Amino acid sequence: MSSSLMLVICFIFIAVNFSQSVGKVRMNSHNLLPPTTFGQNTATFKSKRHEGTALEPGDPAPAFNVPTLDGEFMYPPPAGLKGPVIIHAFTNKSAFLECLWNTESSLIDLVQDLPESTEVLFVSFDDSSVCDALWMRDQVQRAALHRKKQVLSRLHFSPVPVFALGNWIPSVMYSWACSGHNCGLSQVVFTSAGWNMPVIVKRLDARYDWLMGHWSQKQHRLVDAGDACEPSPSVAEAVAWVSEGNCSFFTKVKNMALSKATGVLVYARSGNPIQDMNCVGDECSTPLGLPAAMVPREPSVIQALRFGQQVNVSFQSTPSPNFFIGIDQQGALSEMGWFLYPSFKFINWQAQWFDFSQRLHTRLCEPALMVSVFEKVQMHGEDGAVATVDLPSDVQGFDVLELDASLSCPSRRDESCAPWDHTVQLFVCCDQSSTYCNLELGRWVTSFRRGIGHWLTDVSPLRPLFDTGRCTFTMKTVPWAKPWVVSLSLRFTKSKANVSDSLQPVMLMSLYNGGTFDKEYNKRFEPIKFTVPESTKKVELYAVITGHGSDNDGCGEFCVTSHHFLINGTFNNTRVFDSAGSALGCAMRVGEGAVPNEHGTWLYGRGGWCDGLQVDPWRVDITRQVDMSGIEANTLLYFGLFNGQDPNPSQEPGYIVMFSYLVFYK
Ligand SMILES: *[C@@H]1O[C@H](CO)[C@@H](O)[C@H](O)[C@H]1NC(C)=O
Ligand SMILES: *[C@@H]1O[C@H](CO)[C@@H](O)[C@H](O)[C@H]1NC(C)=O
Ligand SMILES: *[C@@H]1O[C@H](CO)[C@@H](O)[C@H](O)[C@H]1NC(C)=O
Ligand SMILES: *[C@@H]1O[C@H](CO)[C@@H](O)[C@H](O)[C@H]1NC(C)=O
Ligand SMILES: *[C@@H]1O[C@H](CO)[C@@H](O)[C@H](O)[C@H]1NC(C)=O
Ligand SMILES: *[C@@H]1O[C@H](CO)[C@@H](O)[C@H](O)[C@H]1NC(C)=O
Repeated sequence: MSSSLMLVICFIFIAVNFSQSVGKVRMNSHNLLPPTTFGQNTATFKSKRHEGTALEPGDPAPAFNVPTLDGEFMYPPPAGLKGPVIIHAFTNKSAFLECLWNTESSLIDLVQDLPESTEVLFVSFDDSSVCDALWMRDQVQRAALHRKKQVLSRLHFSPVPVFALGNWIPSVMYSWACSGHNCGLSQVVFTSAGWNMPVIVKRLDARYDWLMGHWSQKQHRLVDAGDACEPSPSVAEAVAWVSEGNCSFFTKVKNMALSKATGVLVYARSGNPIQDMNCVGDECSTPLGLPAAMVPREPSVIQALRFGQQVNVSFQSTPSPNFFIGIDQQGALSEMGWFLYPSFKFINWQAQWFDFSQRLHTRLCEPALMVSVFEKVQMHGEDGAVATVDLPSDVQGFDVLELDASLSCPSRRDESCAPWDHTVQLFVCCDQSSTYCNLELGRWVTSFRRGIGHWLTDVSPLRPLFDTGRCTFTMKTVPWAKPWVVSLSLRFTKSKANVSDSLQPVMLMSLYNGGTFDKEYNKRFEPIKFTVPESTKKVELYAVITGHGSDNDGCGEFCVTSHHFLINGTFNNTRVFDSAGSALGCAMRVGEGAVPNEHGTWLYGRGGWCDGLQVDPWRVDITRQVDMSGIEANTLLYFGLFNGQDPNPSQEPGYIVMFSYLVFYK
């Protein structure tokens, strides 16, 4: 059968079935379109280069064509690549994907917030690919009903299953395989004496950061606990089998925790999809130390329990092909990271990051004097990464200095990246005897296990740190962190055609560093007296402040702290980290370069920083707050507060990392 004939059949099929229910369509699909005969001719494979060798993140995506319900999806598009392309393959064998596609808020997020640059191609792994494509399209069309429709033209649904695509896409999905964390197939295995073989069903664990418990490897007894809207002592030391409904997920799990169950399996009502079990509002502050998951209704389990047969459960994760692949605006393949919970928000965030990355790329193509410091150098251990660099003599002719930094991983896959978020600091010393030696020039925080971070940070006021032409740069994080691969260049540009028209920073005065954020915190800071050097035209406060650690109030990472530089006793220059601890405080910064879809709780706002992002310097022009005559002494005092007061933690205090300077311009 030729591919064009198949397309015709496909369209007739769609036309005939479109007005009927999705259920009917599903039943008919196998007969009409035997999947094994799909798509021999549907793919073009222009790039021979990759044949036989696995494609990795960063490789150029070869061209392909895929038939869709509306015609054909061509990559690259005939009019040229304008934005990123995301490929998502569905399988109903994953409870996570079932939930992703059945949750109204998730579909609405896709319809409303998919960045306008982005196209998405949806395919299915399974024999039911035709019905799956029709069903997926139906789901987004329903969500788009009373909303903007413009997005629909950028969503493409292929009836051809992944295993019949005939191009490179399956090999990337298979070789970027994954398990756990909503990738791969999380499953429950039921056994009972009366059965010849185990019953294995998909499961969706409760929201990542709600419940603290983990499924243990061993076998558990399964005990029916009805709807679990009341405690039930019979579930002690067993996994509770609980029906959906009649009370909240929180109530069920709390009752089962009170009854000393080791875990909770909530099964969906007949015909209902798997849901994302989560807490709501105040419920979330009650810690419940046991795992829970949602599973489909499984009649054989219900029956066995009803007849008093012992049923055991255990938990497993079966690796699967990756469900998501990205192609950025440059045509490079990209991993899509970790989807923390079933929501299309995670597609949107990765797409926002592609847009950021494209803007960054455009900026980096503009002319500049680049001085390379590290080029894919390993940063590890006590020493970190160290390089001594001769600065070209003409750097004086530029008034803007940016740090072009990126952090990648030992291999091209995210799985090789260091798992934890740590502060990275860049120190510079150009003269061992100078007071400027080894002051901080830049700061970043590593992502949880993603190697795509790339940032441009304006540190122009710190140019006086380059007090000779030969400087040693040290970039490091905690010595116990797993290695990162760093690249760093100094990027010199001009803000004006004639740099002499702008004021130049000529001197820095180092002010305060942070310290332990306890009740003595502010007692450690003495007022600083200073006179402004002669013929200074502008005075600027420059501070890089981040809060870390976790006391009883979540300080300093997750509490709202404020930082004050009081000048002359009257001018209260204030910086408040008001998004610290907020649910999406850092997710909202993906457009600024915060690495999305990390393998950890990257979404929450933090004390002055985000995982996978540079720390933005805080700059305030204080010229009008100080005596500029050079005769009178000014005073300056820093203090840091929690909730407008001195911190007063009742347990292990957090700490503040701070470098702060006065910058004098002439
Ligand atoms: C997915 O599987 C569930 C059973 O777990 C079923 O009820 C549902 O109809 C399936 N959805 C699709 C789109 O096949
Ligand atoms: C259930 O697990 C117990 C041990 O926890 C074991 O003794 C029993 O044989 C198991 N039964 C089945 C049917 O797997
Ligand atoms: C909900 O509660 C009613 C009344 O107690 C009960 O009959 C029903 O079985 C419960 N539903 C589920 C799904 O357990
Ligand atoms: C740049 O500006 C300075 C002073 O503002 C002036 O003296 C100098 O001639 C200018 N140079 C050029 C090339 O215009
Ligand atoms: C700041 O204080 C100094 C003396 O402490 C005073 O001479 C000066 O006028 C003050 N400047 C402003 C702008 O208030
Ligand atoms: C500075 O402002 C903060 C609130 O923004 C306030 O708590 C603090 O008392 C102020 N300090 C002075 C000395 O005005």
